[in-house]
Amino acid sequence: MRSSIAKLFSLVILAATFSLFTLTGIGSPSPNSAQEIYNRKCALCHGKDGSGNTHDGKKYKVPSVRVAVKKYSEAAMIKIVEEGKGANMDSYSDELSPTQIKALVDYYRSLAKK
Ligand code: HEC
Repeated sequence: MRSSIAKLFSLVILAATFSLFTLTGIGSPSPNSAQEIYNRKCALCHGKDGSGNTHDGKKYKVPSVRVAVKKYSEAAMIKIVEEGKGANMDSYSDELSPTQIKALVDYYRSLAKK
């Protein structure tokens, strides 16, 4: 009997701690980190590794980031993400802030070094 009360008590503590962590965001990476946004919005075509080697990447002929960094400066890439390019690379200036776009481009470019 006593042990089941103890069990219940520890469950309550556990749940309280868990919701505190969830509410304050402690322990989970910032949901707006460049990597998280990239994986959610860009990786479908560009690939998590930037290779463009995905189903949609192949369909839309997305170039590998290793090729792209030789062709475009950081500023040129920021412009492409802001304004879009061609039929399949959308403009993102409506949904992402300039700070987010710069962070995304920096993250994307960093994939070329991996
Ligand atoms: C629907 C597929 C698709 C998605 C989603 C997508 N892109 Fe692209 N992206 C493309 C294609 C296709 C090109 C090549 C366009 C061209 O050169 O005509 C491109 C080009 C680019 C370029 C220029 C350099 C290069 O690789 O050619 C950058 C930078 C870029 N995308 C960043 C992003 C970012 C950041 C996101 C997410 C916010 C994103 N893209 C989402 C398809 C996509």
